[in-house]
Amino acid sequence: MTEQAKDTKASNAMWGGRFASGPDAIMEAINASISFDKRLYAQDIRGSRAHAAMLAAQGIISNKDAEAIREGLLTVLSEIEGGNFPFSTALEDIHMNVEARLKEVIGEPAGRLHTARSRNDQVATDFRLWVRDQADAAIASLDALIRACLAQAEAGADWVMPGFTHLQTAQPVTWGHHMMAYVEMFARDKSRFEDARKRMNESPLGAAALAGTGFPTDRFMTAEALGFDRPMANSLDAVSDRDFALEFLSSASICAVHLSRLAEELVIWSSAQFRFVAMSDKWSTGSSIMPQKRNPDAAELIRAKIGRILGATVALFTVMKGLPLAYSKDMQEDKEQVFDAADNLLLALAAMAGMISDLTVNRDKLEAAAASGFSTATDLADWLVREAGLPFRDAHHVTGTLVAMAEAKGCDLPDLTLEEMQSVNGAINSSIFDVLGVHNSVASRQSYGGTAPDQVRAQIARWKERLA
Ligand code: ARG
Repeated sequence: MTEQAKDTKASNAMWGGRFASGPDAIMEAINASISFDKRLYAQDIRGSRAHAAMLAAQGIISNKDAEAIREGLLTVLSEIEGGNFPFSTALEDIHMNVEARLKEVIGEPAGRLHTARSRNDQVATDFRLWVRDQADAAIASLDALIRACLAQAEAGADWVMPGFTHLQTAQPVTWGHHMMAYVEMFARDKSRFEDARKRMNESPLGAAALAGTGFPTDRFMTAEALGFDRPMANSLDAVSDRDFALEFLSSASICAVHLSRLAEELVIWSSAQFRFVAMSDKWSTGSSIMPQKRNPDAAELIRAKIGRILGATVALFTVMKGLPLAYSKDMQEDKEQVFDAADNLLLALAAMAGMISDLTVNRDKLEAAAASGFSTATDLADWLVREAGLPFRDAHHVTGTLVAMAEAKGCDLPDLTLEEMQSVNGAINSSIFDVLGVHNSVASRQSYGGTAPDQVRAQIARWKERLA
């Protein structure tokens, strides 16, 4: 801003008492947060209404002024929601925008609202309320996703498919087992948000700037009005920590990792080389040049979302480290990161739930793939241990020789003849063929948490009970 403009600009109406002139335009640009923190308007007005009611109940302001403030705030709320609120950058943030407009609407009593509070406890309160809503939304979205995975698991509790390690065929598993693995992961994600929500559900309001206040406030009353379990116990802590946001972001990051892994599997499984699943039209796009293409764009974007969500997490950790107590303006940098991470997490969760629900699973392809790649080699080795008394290491070696033999013949293990097998180990008899089929293989894995359809159905039943 030019010198002349600087001189003519009035000092800030809220805090400008000791200032002769207003800020430079660049100062205003770096300082203002209204462009993004306007998203906190509902929380800000809710917090202010609770604060005004408390001030009146404690005899700090008159009932008449409190009523005017509380009514006026509703007018401001409807202006913002109606899209005709004059947001001003000069007024820096949502807190001062709301208060300045309140003054225009109700006049003098508006000036009494900021008694016994500060923007420091105000912003901490607003932001907690906002993050708490997002945690609730994440919990609900995860619940829907868990139910979608559960429905897939139930449909295919006994469909066999290859289980992979190193993305190499390892042992046959069931589709239901694979889906239930994600149920476990997403349920832990959900519990992380639930835990974080419990810890964040304390009210900073009334901590004032940092030291508390000399006014006879009732912080328990405002805490209750805002749905918090209690007021935060230490006013310095109340205005200066953002660990609730860090916990939200950390939980979001872990959840995004899980989403990304499932998304990656959907991308692989829907490729022409796998064809394990077909993505519905609702969740794929075409190519502008290659007419045959059906691209798994939603899955790819979900796979990528971890980038920005983890980025936001690293950003806020970096902002917070090394800040002396109590409030520092650095903390204004918390909001955009959390807003972006929350928006994208919720979008990714909704898209994943939709994709999983609408997925067509190619059962025959799964089964054919499960039987290839010598996937029952471990069953063969286990048979040699159980039925022929071989030490597992020797059984492993014998099986390896049989795999090499089948590979040379260009066939799978069940296609070798008994004579061929006996040429490698004389103790082998025809009952070995019972364990070489994929259905017998999965059915035998009855250990708790194993892939046997009985076990998978038991897992499903446990989860259905928990979710009921
Ligand atoms: N816009 C500020 C923020 O988001 C509000 C708190 C400002 N407090 C202060 N003392 N300047 O953190």
